[in-house]
Amino acid sequence: MGFRKDFLWGGATAANQCEGGYNEGGRGLANVDVSPVGKDRFAVIAGKMKMFDFDDEHFYPAKEAIDMYHHFREDIKLFAEMGFKTYRCSIAWSRIFPNGDETEPNEEGLKFYEELFKECHKYGIEPLVTITHFDCPMHLVTEYGAWRNRKLVGFYENLCNVIFRRYKGLVKYWLTFNEINMILHAPFMGAGLYFEEGEDEEKIKYQAAHHELVASAIATKIAHEVDPNNMVGCMLAAGQTYPYSCHPNDVWKGMNADRENYFFIDVQSRGQYPKYAIKEMERKGIMPVMEEGDLELLKNHTVDFISFSYYSSRCASADPEVNKLTEGNIFASLKNPYLDASEWGWQIDPLGLRITMNTLYDRYQKPLFIVENGLGAIDTPDENGYVKDDYRIDYLRAHIKAMRDAVVEDGVDLLGYTTWGPIDLVSAGTGEMKKRYGFIYVDRDNEGNGTLKRSKKKSFDWYKKVIASNGEDLE
Ligand code: BG6
Repeated sequence: MGFRKDFLWGGATAANQCEGGYNEGGRGLANVDVSPVGKDRFAVIAGKMKMFDFDDEHFYPAKEAIDMYHHFREDIKLFAEMGFKTYRCSIAWSRIFPNGDETEPNEEGLKFYEELFKECHKYGIEPLVTITHFDCPMHLVTEYGAWRNRKLVGFYENLCNVIFRRYKGLVKYWLTFNEINMILHAPFMGAGLYFEEGEDEEKIKYQAAHHELVASAIATKIAHEVDPNNMVGCMLAAGQTYPYSCHPNDVWKGMNADRENYFFIDVQSRGQYPKYAIKEMERKGIMPVMEEGDLELLKNHTVDFISFSYYSSRCASADPEVNKLTEGNIFASLKNPYLDASEWGWQIDPLGLRITMNTLYDRYQKPLFIVENGLGAIDTPDENGYVKDDYRIDYLRAHIKAMRDAVVEDGVDLLGYTTWGPIDLVSAGTGEMKKRYGFIYVDRDNEGNGTLKRSKKKSFDWYKKVIASNGEDLE
């Protein structure tokens, strides 16, 4: 016994990291466009440095990205050649509503995604669509303060009303917010939040989180009304937190670190604010303002499945002496001495995937969907332009084995697996191109030079075999 027969193998991307075409087809400017590559990026995506437009000093990689806006037919053809059953992509909100607050959508933007979804179906590929993957129209940032403002719920509702109707029959699987817990770690990237000096950041983050949670419930409601076949999922940046030692203080610390993330999914899947969160928010005086009917919406419109990204496990200690952090990671955590790390300092822990899957399944008892997993690495093409990325194959093989154990040995119900970045794209964390995840190499560098030519890496044929054997042949 292995994976289910209709297991959804594929790959995942996000509009802002691959599409480019930032000013084409009537598209408006978004927060993700004005986030530069390089040393200032982290301050910008954390909402600490005000960058609301382009300047001449910085390079903004999302403007052109890998130009999937013009290459999507070629790229989807390559995905089909690998045998993809699903392709996870996201809708750029500002393609559909350039400012975010219009009443009428932009037909050119709608048409673009219609063509893209039809192209997927041409090859029997089921689209899996993230409604917002870190993007928020800039007009909503500058005029409304983004998700801190309740009005965003209504604008997001308009977006959902339009896309669910327009893509009925073309899209069945939807995710409401990519890595909804990102709002706590990189709030400008996660939710368009920028903080003025002296503001209570935590209070604003949880108010904005409440708005997103209500918006997510409304999206789920509309999706089910428009088409009862629609399946809606939440999306968590997951990764179990291990206590650094068996000292009860470390265990307690680890449990609370996990709860910080589970909070979002507890609401989206169980339909109510968990008691531990209410207590904590009351203690800190950061309980969000709610409107009448919010709690009912949350209760009545919970998600159908739990999707998540997994790159690494995390570690927590109550001992101030244990303080060595992992590098290069928005979700920085204590270094686990038992694990190796990628070139960007992301720790590699395949068994952690099995542990995370079991925890999520035990907690929610709903089908899981792994919608991101992969290795960001520097690839060096040989004289023929070929990349022998055995390191990537090793990483994915080990994780797929662990995922198989969770399914076969532990009985976890898993709908599918989409690797992150099946084609090289711009890194969300650093804005670099050289942090590559793909089975397909794209000729483009950190400064935007290159022909954009696509070529297959060694892992391309390997993943093709994995899919053809439904995860049996991993060699
Ligand atoms: C997830 C995001 O956090 O990790 C993706 O959903 C992102 O958008 C991926 O690209 C990998 O992170 P990075 O920083 O290596 O691009």
